[in-house]
Amino acid sequence: MAPLTEDRPVNVAVVGMSYWGPNLARNFDRIEGSHLRFACDLDEGLLDRHRSAFPLTKFTTSLDEVLADPETDAVVIATPVPTHARLALAAIAAGKHVFVEKPLALTTGDARAVAEAAEAAGVTCMVDHLLVLHPAVTKVKELVDTGHLGDVHYLYGNRLNLGIVRKDENALWSLGPHDISVMLHIVGEPAVEVSATGASYLQEGVEDVVFGRILFASGTIGHLHLSWLDPHKMRRMTVIGSDRMVVFDDMESERKITVYDKGPVPRTGDYGEYIQVRSGDIFSPKIDGAEPLKLVCQHFLDCIRSGEAPIADGWAGLATVEVLEAMDKSLAENGRPVTLEGASA
Ligand SMILES: NC(=O)c1ccc[n+]([C@@H]2O[C@H](COP(=O)([O-])OP(=O)(O)OC[C@H]3O[C@@H](n4cnc5c(N)ncnc54)[C@H](O)[C@@H]3O)[C@@H](O)[C@H]2O)c1
Repeated sequence: MAPLTEDRPVNVAVVGMSYWGPNLARNFDRIEGSHLRFACDLDEGLLDRHRSAFPLTKFTTSLDEVLADPETDAVVIATPVPTHARLALAAIAAGKHVFVEKPLALTTGDARAVAEAAEAAGVTCMVDHLLVLHPAVTKVKELVDTGHLGDVHYLYGNRLNLGIVRKDENALWSLGPHDISVMLHIVGEPAVEVSATGASYLQEGVEDVVFGRILFASGTIGHLHLSWLDPHKMRRMTVIGSDRMVVFDDMESERKITVYDKGPVPRTGDYGEYIQVRSGDIFSPKIDGAEPLKLVCQHFLDCIRSGEAPIADGWAGLATVEVLEAMDKSLAENGRPVTLEGASA
């Protein structure tokens, strides 16, 4: 690879140009300091649709051509999930920095292989845990880390809509990576046990709705409600602290975050067995309106230049896959709790 100097852009190749890949291509094409060198897909017809939007970009159906190109610094993988680990390992072996769509892999074994290979090769590996870089999640994390909410008792995510119904993955694998990665990030502790129940109504063996539970090391509980068979369009996470509570509602355009100064009043002993609650101010801090995907792409480029580990690096990708895999196991066993082996440790 040609050395990366300040005066030249990071050359990026996007692999997989179907539904999601073009969003990444658009960002890497537009962000200052990066150049979309390649758009790659096995489907020539699909590539033809995008040629006019990216006139300075080479189009190819061959990943080998991309990997053999010494000018390409980074490979962005937006292909189907079962291919993620194989393509990421090939890119790392070719000395490229890698950005992998969520989830990083289908198994903890594969996810670990990618994280380890990237570390050994000294290349940047980032997973598109988009919401972890969402300015509203950054705010929630700040409220938790500064102690503004008190101790985090529990948190829950609702990711519901009517559609998109996937055939090759259930609601857990399709929708869950977002909430799981955000919960791991906000709580900042390893998950120690998970369970999940769900049901398949539309396609046999593909769960349309999943209710998941994560137990964190300190006892904090996370709960997930994931469904593509629901009348509500909801993308919400609620965090209940001992002092305050906060709601991140991504369907709100302006009021993304609402902080509730509500909670129990510490017991003084004067009121016998009654537990009093306090209901104070409700306020909504201003949240930067930057497009999360643009922030994610910029973060990847910044980490390539600085050599720092991305917030959502291969190890964070592994931790999310570990929870997904264990929840899937629990789902198949009617909600039996599954202890995590500490694959992310
Ligand atoms: N972060 C998000 O919010 C978000 C949203 C949607 C999708 N995604 C992720 O993006 C990825 C792509 O999703 P999609 O819906 O666009 O998938 P898709 O199945 O519609 O398209 C994948 C494309 O990859 C191409 N492809 C497969 N193997 C290839 C190879 N070896 N070389 C070149 N091209 C190859 C296919 O031809 C296809 O066009 C998935 O991992 C998905 O989970 C993320």
